[in-house]
Amino acid sequence: MNVYHLSMECFPVAKVGGLADVVGALPKYQNKIEGMDAKVVMPWYNKPFVHDHDFETVFHGYIHQGPNMLRVHVMKERGSVLGFDLFLVQIPGLLDRDNPYGYHDESYQFLAFQHAVLHWLTAMKIRPDVLHCHDYHTGLIPFMIENCPEFGVLKGVKTIGTIHNGEYQGQMKWEMLEFFPWINGNTDLRVLDWSGYINPLATMIKCCDAFNAVSGGYMEELYHSFKGLEQLVRQEHQKASGIINGIDTEVWDPKTDDYLDYNFGAENAQHGKWINKKELCEEYGLNPDLPLFGFIGRFAGEKGADLLPDIVWQSIQQTYGALNIIILGSGERHTEEKLSELSWHYSNFALDLGYKEYLSHKIYASADFLIMPSRVEPCGLNQMYAMRYGTVPIVRYTGGLRDTVQDISSGGAGINFGEATAADAVHAVKRALHIYHEKDLMERLVKTNMEFDFSWDKSAGNYVNLYSK
Ligand code: ADP
Ligand code: GLC
Repeated sequence: MNVYHLSMECFPVAKVGGLADVVGALPKYQNKIEGMDAKVVMPWYNKPFVHDHDFETVFHGYIHQGPNMLRVHVMKERGSVLGFDLFLVQIPGLLDRDNPYGYHDESYQFLAFQHAVLHWLTAMKIRPDVLHCHDYHTGLIPFMIENCPEFGVLKGVKTIGTIHNGEYQGQMKWEMLEFFPWINGNTDLRVLDWSGYINPLATMIKCCDAFNAVSGGYMEELYHSFKGLEQLVRQEHQKASGIINGIDTEVWDPKTDDYLDYNFGAENAQHGKWINKKELCEEYGLNPDLPLFGFIGRFAGEKGADLLPDIVWQSIQQTYGALNIIILGSGERHTEEKLSELSWHYSNFALDLGYKEYLSHKIYASADFLIMPSRVEPCGLNQMYAMRYGTVPIVRYTGGLRDTVQDISSGGAGINFGEATAADAVHAVKRALHIYHEKDLMERLVKTNMEFDFSWDKSAGNYVNLYSK
């Protein structure tokens, strides 16, 4: 089966968050299944991976976006070094940027990507079995192949839409229709509409053959809380499912991870984590004899990042400084500023504002606990990386977090808390402190977490079953 994954991100080519990790791993694991040929198509970015690898141009062409004629190049990575064929779509001025998101004209950017991919496949007469669209950025593909005559060759190709994050839907004004590929005159344009705007995520849900959320827990939540699309998912429920993400256990392996100061497995986790923690604490001026709590992620409302300043100072004050906290991330200015102030005041708190892949690995390996006060968490990968590196997750009971982390009081090896409030999170931190001081229990939790199997093997198969249906 020939599957093309269409995405804005793919690790290690370009990563902003978990979408990249998923698209960099899922096809690799799918290709281990007999009869599967999964590929990835993404925009060209000005990134080290692109410059450091060998690409051949497989297509040159032009598309019209409104009054503009855009030059399209498609490049294929020669060595399939990632475990799948990787195609990059380049359009000077739109798809040749430093980063996937954050540009004022991103609607044009995402439209051009979708248009160019379909133009290339049509021109080369490539008819995949499945087009797998990730998030709203590629959500118009199912509509386009059915309603734009120039992609006639692709009509009837099956489409899957994966919702990694329903908070972002890509709404645009109707004036943008002028920049779409030419649409058949008979088309009922209401399929593009949701609440008076063109809504690519809503269109994906309406037009795809099947869609899924990245965990069962999140899929259930979408029926009641989906930024206005609740009614739509209820209407389209026959096409819906939840498939939990896996993690790439080859990339995320404390036994072989090159970023760590000391590699370790479940059998020598106490010693291994201690060495890593000592190094990290020394670097950030923290006392390694205290338990270390970490947070890694985007400073956004959905992650509960605005709660972090209160969580930090209340945890330190209420425990009389009996713990250390390290935070790696960036985003909302207000949160960055408040956390920076706190890091000046408290020697128990270290802050690194930025995106640092190597540091995230070090924190997963060194921390005793990882805290995730998410308001919304479609799946969440951090808790799974933490567990694989012997770090006990403290998570708000929501979405994918509730599917992956069970509280120790109900037989699991993590800590759950109920509300996305600083009070609930701090209460969970204090529970964690008690656990930390029960050495036997703590050792058992570290080991149990490390032995959980979150590899992609099972979920990659679940996607293949969905394609087969
Ligand atoms: P999301 O995609 O919503 O941000 P996920 O939990 O699915 O959340 O994935 C986040 C991914 O991004 C993980 O691989 C995590 O380690 C990584 N990450 C997030 N913030 C940073 C950061 N500041 N530096 C390094 N890695 C980060
Ligand atoms: C999104 C979600 C996150 C999920 C990731 C990968 O970014 O916010 O919860 O893990 O996609 O599916």
